Amino acid sequence: MLRLYGEEKEMFITFEGIEGCGKSTQIKLLQTFLKQSGSKVILTREPGGCKISDQIRSVLLDASNNAIAPITELMLYSAARAQHLAEVVRPALSKGFVVLCDRFSDATRAYQVFGRGIDRNVMETLNNITCEGIIPNLTLLLDCPVETGLQRAIQRIESVNGPREDRFELESIAFHQLVRDGYLTLASEEPERFAVIDATGSRQQVAERIADAVIQRIMAGK
Ligand code: TMP
Repeated sequence: MLRLYGEEKEMFITFEGIEGCGKSTQIKLLQTFLKQSGSKVILTREPGGCKISDQIRSVLLDASNNAIAPITELMLYSAARAQHLAEVVRPALSKGFVVLCDRFSDATRAYQVFGRGIDRNVMETLNNITCEGIIPNLTLLLDCPVETGLQRAIQRIESVNGPREDRFELESIAFHQLVRDGYLTLASEEPERFAVIDATGSRQQVAERIADAVIQRIMAGK
């Protein structure tokens, strides 16, 4: 349950955005903020979040798997999601946890539909089978220019692993631009579910924008 100003609500909150938008840092800061306000929170991510889905993640992100067909990619993301929903997300929501998830179905829309060109109807049909009605209450889209995001992503990777990139970080600027534009289109299709957050500026500034958006959306839902 999300406890803000004495109100309690079941909450599934997802974070989305292009590579290097800062969502992995910001999701941890929101977790701390929500815990301090008395909520039981779990933080998870896609693809991944449990053993089987982490194994699928390794296949998906392996830079040597560049022969993967778009439809295979779509199905693997869906398979990882189905397992993650069954093992982690549904049980946590039913126990009253606030679930914060680093990427969810909108990443499939942005990357596989808008980025790779998979038919939207095919994706939505598979997504309905996979999610069985689970839709985030709130999706925070951390938006920044593609060049800013990729620069941050490459710096982060080099500081951790040396000069290695995963399959998506090796994609062209044009691909990431399609993904960013796709995310913004999705946000305009569902303005009540999405909050678009300006992800430029300092960590603290972005964290404040996110906290404000969460509070406003919860308050607005009263
Ligand atoms: P991450 O870098 O945020 O952990 O995400 C892993 C990569 O997987 C990232 O490049 C986005 C991509 N992705 C998709 O293409 N489709 C999806 O459905 C998901 C969840 C992630």
